[in-house]
Amino acid sequence: MHISLQVNGTPHRLEVRGAETLAEVLRDRLGLTGTKIGCNAGECGACTVVLDGRAVCACLVPTPRMDGAAVRTIEGVTPAEGLSPLQQALVEHGAFQCGFCTPGVVMSLTALFDRVRLPSEHEIRVALQGNVCRCSGYVRLIEAAKAAALRLAR
Ligand code: FES
Ligand code: FES
Repeated sequence: MHISLQVNGTPHRLEVRGAETLAEVLRDRLGLTGTKIGCNAGECGACTVVLDGRAVCACLVPTPRMDGAAVRTIEGVTPAEGLSPLQQALVEHGAFQCGFCTPGVVMSLTALFDRVRLPSEHEIRVALQGNVCRCSGYVRLIEAAKAAALRLAR
């Protein structure tokens, strides 16, 4: 089937197989490998992207749901030069180790920051509840997210 979708502001028309997920389309057809595939079952959050304004697991988005959608990926929130304020805060707080989960974390927080000007710690925790990080823990991550939220709200 043919689908049309926008990814990071760029329109695409693609012929896809019925069983392809958004994560596969992004990585294999569009070369946007910043979106990671971990569990491929909606459990880890590594594949999180923003779909029509909401953070979703791209490994669970079936082909028909992509048609007409607007998608933002980690490539779309990373400036050509340097890092976004959120990414900078993650680095400054040492909020990750292997980094495999980090693109998904950034996209979950991006969706939250787009929706809520200055989210509370509770809202940050809720936004990250689907993002599993097995190596760094969440203390620094939460601190980084709070620092980024403050910077973005100024
Ligand atoms: S790869 Fe999609 S939730 Fe784990
Ligand atoms: S930094 Fe390794 S899984 Fe999160």
